Amino acid sequence: MALAFISLILLFLLLLQNHKIDAKVSSLIVFGDSSVDSGNNNYIPTVLKSNFRPYGRDFDGGQATGRFSNGRVPTDFISEAFQLKKTIPAYLDPSYTIKDFATGVCFASAGTGYDNATSKVLSVIPLWKELEYYKEYQSRLREYLGNQKAEEVLSEALYIISLGTNDFLENYYLLPERSSEFSIEEYQRFLAGIARTFITHIYQLGAQKISLTGLPPMGCLPLERTINLASEGECIDEYNNVAMDFNRKLHALVETLNKELSGLQLVLTNPYPILYDIIQNPHSFGFNHSATACCGTGRFEMSYLCQEHNPFTCLDANKYVFWDSFHPTEKTNDILANYAFRTNLAVFQ
Ligand SMILES: *[C@@H]1O[C@H](CO)[C@@H](O)[C@H](O)[C@H]1NC(C)=O
Ligand SMILES: *[C@@H]1O[C@H](CO)[C@@H](O)[C@H](O)[C@H]1NC(C)=O
Repeated sequence: MALAFISLILLFLLLLQNHKIDAKVSSLIVFGDSSVDSGNNNYIPTVLKSNFRPYGRDFDGGQATGRFSNGRVPTDFISEAFQLKKTIPAYLDPSYTIKDFATGVCFASAGTGYDNATSKVLSVIPLWKELEYYKEYQSRLREYLGNQKAEEVLSEALYIISLGTNDFLENYYLLPERSSEFSIEEYQRFLAGIARTFITHIYQLGAQKISLTGLPPMGCLPLERTINLASEGECIDEYNNVAMDFNRKLHALVETLNKELSGLQLVLTNPYPILYDIIQNPHSFGFNHSATACCGTGRFEMSYLCQEHNPFTCLDANKYVFWDSFHPTEKTNDILANYAFRTNLAVFQ
């Protein structure tokens, strides 16, 4: 009964949305980590890769593109929802040209974080370097479209920033450097300060429509359940609490920056509540498993440990919320992206 009612409301919102679309967003420009990386790590010397089977087995042509999923990532679905292209090309992929990048480009790098120290753990692209690539992209775009048209594209683009999980799970809680230097509260403030600087930079470079993505319930990632020594198989509450706390700080940052920077339209896309709901009630969303992932045993495998010939890998990823022990399946990414599109990203439509 309640479910039917919710479905009806969702349908209504969907119809409403379809009515309003007039393609105001000209392009998607993506910064972040593996939640949105579409293949940049294929072109850098890091062990954190996913350009091999079974990654991408449900992608168009079964191609392992370097996305950390069995198919597309949320930004691909958001791009499609804005009636732009169905996939966002990775900036470092030499098979694409500036013509392709003019309607969407991804600078994200799996394993990176706000903190420079996080990107060093697995030798991936630090956030400041993503910004350098973006500046290079701007010059190439000006050359390609001419100054005026390029400025138009850059100011009408939607900028998506999606990272932060690795700062906590790959860095703070795993390595001694940051955890001896900062309390968890101080570290969150440190990261929020970097987010503030980054957003201010891209705003000064012409960005006006920006979506800052919050943290997922990172204590419920299958890998974290596996390493939960206190109660094995359960979510790590402490990590979830930190994620909610950090999301509140990002929310405050968004409000402050919208007041400070004129013309800025900055929103917080918070994946926590919807993803937590999916994990707690997988059946309501058509899933059967949310505590373990599809790939391998579903408890610890990701990147090179998620191998093609692992006999335990599931046959139908659509039954799983998580693809590997750290990343959602394509179906989950689709749900998260379309939820964001209908809710907080609606202001850009
Ligand atoms: C990160 O490294 C870059 C390049 O060395 C530097 O410009 C930036 O200030 C550093 N960020 C922080 C927060 O230390
Ligand atoms: C998997 O979940 C779906 C959706 O809730 C349900 O219809 C189906 O019976 C489940 N299958 C198994 C094997 O549990």
